[in-house]
Amino acid sequence: MGKEKVGFCVVGGIVLVLFLGASVTSDDKRQRWRRAMISGETMASSMLFNRVPSSIVLPLHGNVYPNGVPFCRYYNVTLNIGQPSKPYFLDVDTGSDLTWLQCDAPCVHCTEAPHPYYRPSNNLVACMDPICQSLHSNDDHRCENPEQCDYEVEYADGGSSLGVLVRDAFNLNFTNEKRQSPLLALGCGYDQLPGGSHHPIDGVLGLGKGKSSIVSQLSSLGLVRNVIGHCLSRRGGGFLFFGDDLYDPSRVAWTPMSPDAKHYSPGLAELTFDGKTTGFKKLLTTFDSGSSYTYLNSQAYQGLISLLKKELSGKPLREASDDQTLPLCWKGRKPFRSIQAYLIISSKGNACLGILNGTEVGLNDLNVIGDISMQDRVVIYDNEKERIGWAPGNCNGLPKSRSFII
Ligand SMILES: *[C@@H]1O[C@H](CO)[C@@H](O)[C@H](O)[C@H]1NC(C)=O
Ligand SMILES: *[C@@H]1O[C@H](CO)[C@@H](O)[C@H](O)[C@H]1NC(C)=O
Ligand SMILES: *[C@@H]1O[C@H](CO)[C@@H](O)[C@H](O)[C@H]1NC(C)=O
Repeated sequence: MGKEKVGFCVVGGIVLVLFLGASVTSDDKRQRWRRAMISGETMASSMLFNRVPSSIVLPLHGNVYPNGVPFCRYYNVTLNIGQPSKPYFLDVDTGSDLTWLQCDAPCVHCTEAPHPYYRPSNNLVACMDPICQSLHSNDDHRCENPEQCDYEVEYADGGSSLGVLVRDAFNLNFTNEKRQSPLLALGCGYDQLPGGSHHPIDGVLGLGKGKSSIVSQLSSLGLVRNVIGHCLSRRGGGFLFFGDDLYDPSRVAWTPMSPDAKHYSPGLAELTFDGKTTGFKKLLTTFDSGSSYTYLNSQAYQGLISLLKKELSGKPLREASDDQTLPLCWKGRKPFRSIQAYLIISSKGNACLGILNGTEVGLNDLNVIGDISMQDRVVIYDNEKERIGWAPGNCNGLPKSRSFII
């Protein structure tokens, strides 16, 4: 199988090739699932729950650019999973579907984690389950072991997780003030490889478009609508939400979501500068909360830099070529203390452009809108109406319950 990888930085980069089915070559790596004997009632799923959609709001921790050190960003959320539930810190990734935890199944190879490894429920997802099938839509998956669903997910930074799907309770607070613990499918990852941007994590929260995404699952249980939003604060942190009753859609700028793209993509975009056309059109674009920076293909990047340089000539800013933080930094009369849009402040107090050359990092023609371009905005991926939206927002602190964030 050809392995194409895009993105890089962060476990939450755009995920590409995903699941190798139970192919013969990978079978030896795969353990026969040992049923972890966890007794206790497993709650029946949807029927118990209230069917009026509500929303879920989760605080985000992390930053694009912590401590002035070049660093891949990570935003994490805490989720309480299991019966009884235990907390886990999960990397947030809109570029992949599956949520998984490092798992004591037992673990063949796990990486450093902030919490003890997850002990799986004995509630296995069957191979013919639509969620399992959705993970294997790109390969010739055969159910050699019908009662279990093997998965393998590989991230753009080289990290990966291999394991088996189980169902377990996710303890969630809804904005209608109900607490519920629906059973959702997640990966019990017993064989992980760390990626290039490795840091200790308990697992990944996959928020992509696929059926296995937690939000798709919550939506098919009638608990929230299949809508995901995030608000990343420039000061660090922010919040994530699932559902569509926290905002006024008429105040959001919407663009159709490209139905054929695997990831959240508005399809082809045009680059404007200062509200004016630049001539760079038909740019294949994707939104990726797993990427810190924004990437343009070489021509558009070159074009943008020329326009910026022209705009800045005669202004009291000079290029700081001694600053290696990012390819393009500017020095002001005094060190910068605050900045807006697309810029970061380096440890030397210079302002550096957070838009980079995607061709250089192997993205080819794909243009990636990363966290740097999404800060202090509410960004909404509406899978129900197949559209992506954004609006200026206050991402410091959590929204008050029962009021609109925008
Ligand atoms: C994840 O968030 C928690 C707070 O909920 C924080 O203590 C922890 O340091 C964060 N982990 C990472 C890797 O950022
Ligand atoms: C849910 O809300 C309760 C009460 O406000 C709080 O104690 C608890 O920590 C919350 N749980 C989660 C998973 O956020
Ligand atoms: C972008 O990267 C490509 C590939 O490394 C390189 O050929 C090109 O010159 C770069 N473009 C700019 C404007 O730096």
